Amino acid sequence: MSFAIRSKGKTSQKKRHTDILDSTMAKIIFSDNDEVVELPDGSPIAEACEEAGVPFACTEGVCGTCVIEVTEGMENLSEFNQAESDFLGDQDRERLACQCKIRGGCVKIKF
Ligand code: FES
Repeated sequence: MSFAIRSKGKTSQKKRHTDILDSTMAKIIFSDNDEVVELPDGSPIAEACEEAGVPFACTEGVCGTCVIEVTEGMENLSEFNQAESDFLGDQDRERLACQCKIRGGCVKIKF
């Protein structure tokens, strides 16, 4: 999987691998540190979140260590799976980063 990390207006070298795919790239904005990550539509967000500093433990939707708050773009993430529903219950701001994928567009996350 390729993705790019941009911080404070600069683009890392990883960006060059994604230039061709810009029309199918989704974007995650981490509001804690203003980091922007681009990744292909339909990708799991776990790796990008982990690199941005979200803590992970079980990676199976059981422990809740990877809970993130989605402040914008919840509709751009995959549907809640059973693990997320079991752990998070009925609410609309939090997700388990180890369980969801980004469909496309832009999602803004706090952790
Ligand atoms: S890392 Fe345990 S629920 Fe995501």
